[in-house]
Amino acid sequence: MNALDRWTEAIDRLRKQRRAVILAHNYEPPEIQDVADITGDSLELSRRAKETDAEVIVFCGVHFMAETAAILNPEKTVLLPRRDAGCPMADMVTAEDIRSVKQRYPGVPVITYVNSTAEVKAESTICCTSANAVRVVESFREASAVYMAPDRNLARYAARHTSKKVYHWTGYCPFHNRLRAEDVKQRKQEHPEAVFVAHPECRPEVLDLADVVTSTSGMLRFAKESPHSSFIIGTEVGLLHPLRRANPAKAFYPASEKMVCTDMKKISLEDIQRALETLEPRITVPEDVRLRALEAVERMLAAA
Ligand code: 13P
Ligand code: SF4
Repeated sequence: MNALDRWTEAIDRLRKQRRAVILAHNYEPPEIQDVADITGDSLELSRRAKETDAEVIVFCGVHFMAETAAILNPEKTVLLPRRDAGCPMADMVTAEDIRSVKQRYPGVPVITYVNSTAEVKAESTICCTSANAVRVVESFREASAVYMAPDRNLARYAARHTSKKVYHWTGYCPFHNRLRAEDVKQRKQEHPEAVFVAHPECRPEVLDLADVVTSTSGMLRFAKESPHSSFIIGTEVGLLHPLRRANPAKAFYPASEKMVCTDMKKISLEDIQRALETLEPRITVPEDVRLRALEAVERMLAAA
């Protein structure tokens, strides 16, 4: 038996003992996605975290995702196998920043991307993900303006699909922001037949070149259903694994090899085994913050 099989066997045994479910984001390394019970984008994983009857949720992703699972499941044990797996974009805005925004734009709904801390969610009117941002903006039928945080690129993307005025914070994902229009043009020259699919966290000039703009799971669905056989993928390179696994006869090219989220690569099989053995590191949210953040997350789940 090789090392990979040994880890997998130990994790399977512990997962049953602990009545645990393992969730993994689409950017996690291949071996982590393969050992998971459920993989998906941020919205799907939030939904699954809410529905699960498991006693323990092992969240293989980054801190804000495990925190969202803890917000939705206060009675469950939520584990993030590496506590230091964070999201640089989530750390670009604070609860204090959102309080100042609300003073500056009184009455304007504050739509916060789930890539944010629980404290920031607690100050927000509603949350959104990359899969539902436009729908969430449009759900404020009476409002002529909204404020989006922390991602300026997601906000500018949403602004193109609504008649509302979209004010926004200045955060960004360092890895999606790294992709330049020149990189995409170069790839398109190398693969002129390929369809270019981009994540809304990319720069506006990159999205201008995209045939389709969607979330990570939106890309998985699109690739499966599309009659095309080759695709340039404008998101974090981890998505190439599920794309290739589900579509062995199709070709997938990264828009740029530079799009590697280091935090999404931190969790190892050994970390999952240790987390299941020790029930640590556990992610919890103070109850007063949790209840206010829950309102914003539940409004999103209802609106989307
Ligand atoms: P998705 O919601 O599309 O999975 O994206 C999450 C994320 O962190 C993108 O960088
Ligand atoms: Fe955060 Fe970007 Fe990593 Fe997504 S890819 S978790 S937005 S740093």
